[in-house]
Amino acid sequence: MADGFLSLWRDLEPIGRDAGSGGYRRFAWGGADGECRDWFRDQARARGLRYEVDRNGNQWAWRGDPERGDAVVTGSHLDSVPDGGAFDGPLGVVSAFAAVDRVPDGGRPLGIVNFTDEEGARFGVACVGSRLATGTLTPERARTLRDAQGISLPQAMERAGRDPDAIGPDPERLARIGAFVELHIEQGRALADTPHPVGVASAIWPHGRWRFDFHGAANHAGTTRLEDRRDPMLTYATTVLGARKKARLAGALATFGKVAVEPNGVNAIPSLVRGWLDARAADRPTLDTVVAAIEQAARERGGRDGVTVTVTEESRTALVEFDTALRDRLAALLTERHGGAPLLPTGAGHDAGILSAAVPTAMLYVRNPTGVSHAPAEHATEDDCEAGVTALAEVLEELVCR
Ligand code: GLV
Ligand code: MN
Ligand code: MN
Ligand code: MN
Repeated sequence: MADGFLSLWRDLEPIGRDAGSGGYRRFAWGGADGECRDWFRDQARARGLRYEVDRNGNQWAWRGDPERGDAVVTGSHLDSVPDGGAFDGPLGVVSAFAAVDRVPDGGRPLGIVNFTDEEGARFGVACVGSRLATGTLTPERARTLRDAQGISLPQAMERAGRDPDAIGPDPERLARIGAFVELHIEQGRALADTPHPVGVASAIWPHGRWRFDFHGAANHAGTTRLEDRRDPMLTYATTVLGARKKARLAGALATFGKVAVEPNGVNAIPSLVRGWLDARAADRPTLDTVVAAIEQAARERGGRDGVTVTVTEESRTALVEFDTALRDRLAALLTERHGGAPLLPTGAGHDAGILSAAVPTAMLYVRNPTGVSHAPAEHATEDDCEAGVTALAEVLEELVCR
């Protein structure tokens, strides 16, 4: 294992790790995120790379002058989901520095990026940095986002020393990028039982997040007869079970992974249950049909329970098909050097998916033997991390020098 990757990894690894769960809590613009951002800045400066933070808070490190255009960029994100794994995001940024260290100077400028707030764990919308840059999230909407403590995105940015008035589309910066390659931990078992440590992304399923508000009536758990209740927990629970069945029948995925209950007392029927649906499917019609069916069933059940249901779409990402020319070039190179690189679709969202609307984009996935992601058991072996850096360096050299 080359020391370059490991020593970079060891510096970053302790930041934001929870001693109890072993998972990471690196939330946009918070303390651990700030330490990760300082690490990125220090790595850029230590290499004499030109360091910039763009209007949306994304960090960039450049070898060569990006203003010349047709730049090659690699990188990922450093924030995490609550109790996330070590690799989702950081593997792509650490591999980027390790790979760039190995790539000879070529004709094209070479950049490393840390996209801000990819997971959306704090403010609810994923890929905030890349969505703002591409214009798929408007600054007006971004300014309304709040975390669970009521702190708005602009307040959080200001506390971290950034100017929230500056956020917005960044077409000139994106126009300078000729190719973006994001390396990422594979988030299922697609490579686990293959002889290949590295795969190439083909597509990202359409997906989105919907907030379901179930309004009932608070009342005493010990004195309210079952038939007199307007219990939103009941409607919520039935909705969760129905969502799973509808998704299964359609070959889609539906998850309620976050829930808030008011007033949240053990001996009180809740007045409100708020549940967030994450739904994903191979194509848009299937996704729309599944979400509409979940919503309709929730309303019908709510009608019987005396519970009002409102549904708010919080974010949505269309089907992503990565640039076929770039994808095929990378797959051919890795096949020639390493005997194969499977083409993989995924249900996971990425900044690369958002960027693909504006820039020729590709992704490399590194084998995950546990198949677990967004949880502490997420893993990649040292050998596979090394194979990822090697593949990324070869790809960057191919793009920069040929
Ligand atoms: C991002 O990791 C997502 O797919 O939710
Ligand atoms: Mn993730
Ligand atoms: Mn990620
Ligand atoms: Mn009482």
